[in-house]
Amino acid sequence: MNTLPQVVIVELGSQVTRLIERTLRELGVRSAILSPKQAAKWFKKFPVRAVILSGGPASVYEKGAPMPPRGILSLRQPDGKPVSVLGICYGMQWIARELGGQVESVNAKREYGAAEICEMRSDRIFEGVGGSDAGVWMSHGDSVTALPPGFSSLAKTRDGAFAMMANDERTVYGVQFHPEVNETVCGRTLLENFVFKVAGCERDWEAASMIDSIREAVAAAMQGKKAVIGFSGGVDSTTLTALIAPSLGKRLRAITIDAGHLRRGEMEEIRRHAKAAGVRLKVVKVAPRFIAAIGKAIDAEKKRTIFRRLYAAVFRQEARRFGASVVIQGTLAPDQIESGRTGGAVIKTHHNVGLDFGGLDQLHPIDHLFKYEVRALGRALGLPESVCKRQPFPGPGLFIRVVGAPVTKERLEIVREADAKVREILERNGLYDGLSQLVVGLVGVNTVGVKGDARAYGHMLLIRAVRTIDFMTAKGVVFPEPVVEEIKTSLVKLQGIVRVVFDPTDKPPATTELE
Ligand code: XMP
Repeated sequence: MNTLPQVVIVELGSQVTRLIERTLRELGVRSAILSPKQAAKWFKKFPVRAVILSGGPASVYEKGAPMPPRGILSLRQPDGKPVSVLGICYGMQWIARELGGQVESVNAKREYGAAEICEMRSDRIFEGVGGSDAGVWMSHGDSVTALPPGFSSLAKTRDGAFAMMANDERTVYGVQFHPEVNETVCGRTLLENFVFKVAGCERDWEAASMIDSIREAVAAAMQGKKAVIGFSGGVDSTTLTALIAPSLGKRLRAITIDAGHLRRGEMEEIRRHAKAAGVRLKVVKVAPRFIAAIGKAIDAEKKRTIFRRLYAAVFRQEARRFGASVVIQGTLAPDQIESGRTGGAVIKTHHNVGLDFGGLDQLHPIDHLFKYEVRALGRALGLPESVCKRQPFPGPGLFIRVVGAPVTKERLEIVREADAKVREILERNGLYDGLSQLVVGLVGVNTVGVKGDARAYGHMLLIRAVRTIDFMTAKGVVFPEPVVEEIKTSLVKLQGIVRVVFDPTDKPPATTELE
């Protein structure tokens, strides 16, 4: 089994990029969505079989239009075969321009919504596509008006614009419409043909086979040793623990650090999830030590550095006590990417990436997976839905949800209370389950308010929710007015809070967490 995705999707700004990834997953192929910069670094380190260039709102002639990495059209696989490329909409226009074709903004050829393609030529990418499958979905201002040398037309739109082009020898394809959306009848078949018939990908995503390969890798690394595993009760650590606990038995101990950073009711949930994962749990209570050390820092990365140092120290101590020589962590691929481990920018240093555990060995058996894959693994293992659908919660917890002011026990309690209230309101209104993550933070900026006819000068609470599949990009959620009303009136009652703000900023440019 490949440990890294065979397909890289280069994100060029489309609203529907995640649908490409989801379709590929449904086809049994894993992929990673990366920005052009991340992709450039990725290609230098890891082999891929196929690259998909997403659509995007820009025109290729626009200043600052997103540019796929240089050399992307002449990448080679380890066996020397060319890496296949599929450009979608803007991606196709970029390829056409890059290779000497012509792209123009032609009023008559603009299309937004349902359309039909015709003049479909016989090609392996169309295998299984019938004549009645001509309905497609388009959304573009620019069009390719002259194909680059070496390319031929595979389909046109009714008004004669190029809907699809190919250079068979280089295995470079372009589609003007969006195969990833449901409205494109033949879209799924096109993507299927592209990854399997054109790019030669293998099926590498099936929960059952993933279970075996992870277990085998852990067994090979353990060789009878004892291990401690970081257990947060979240989907990653619970699923990983459930995967390896049966074979490690008494040689495995789960460790939860209670650093004063958890949400209301979370410790009880952690205990329930440890039971479901079949592991013995040790809770290490160290709140005063963590709060005292982190409380001094306001800078986000400084806070994270202190948290990581103390976190690693607790694990070293607990491993020594248990006689373990290995620390196991449920680190995921996005943690590595954002922490700069794959060569990109350091967005934020995740608490469990690149830690110094002294002489202890480290195992990160699921660090090639994305969140949605771990959820599927959890389901395949029969873990309860409270585990499999659980929203992520960052390792440093509420410490990174008190921002702009020193972390104190009191401020942590305000966020804890606010978080519990907002969650209760969203659950009662049937909105919580539809969210990928809820973030409630205390913003340590003083503003003036009036409470009980007196001047109040205090902090604000920020409510943020996002929807995402892989947490690499996310869409900010705007709540319905009655829910906003209920949240704000309930939160301003909290001590020291004079303002409630809602933050629906997308990622990018924001990130999910505030720090
Ligand atoms: P951002 O804020 O970068 O976060 O969009 C993406 C996802 O990662 C979570 N996150 C963390 N998870 N340790 C973790 O285990 C961390 O240090 C950490 N920092 C952020 C975040 O909550 C979101 O789900």
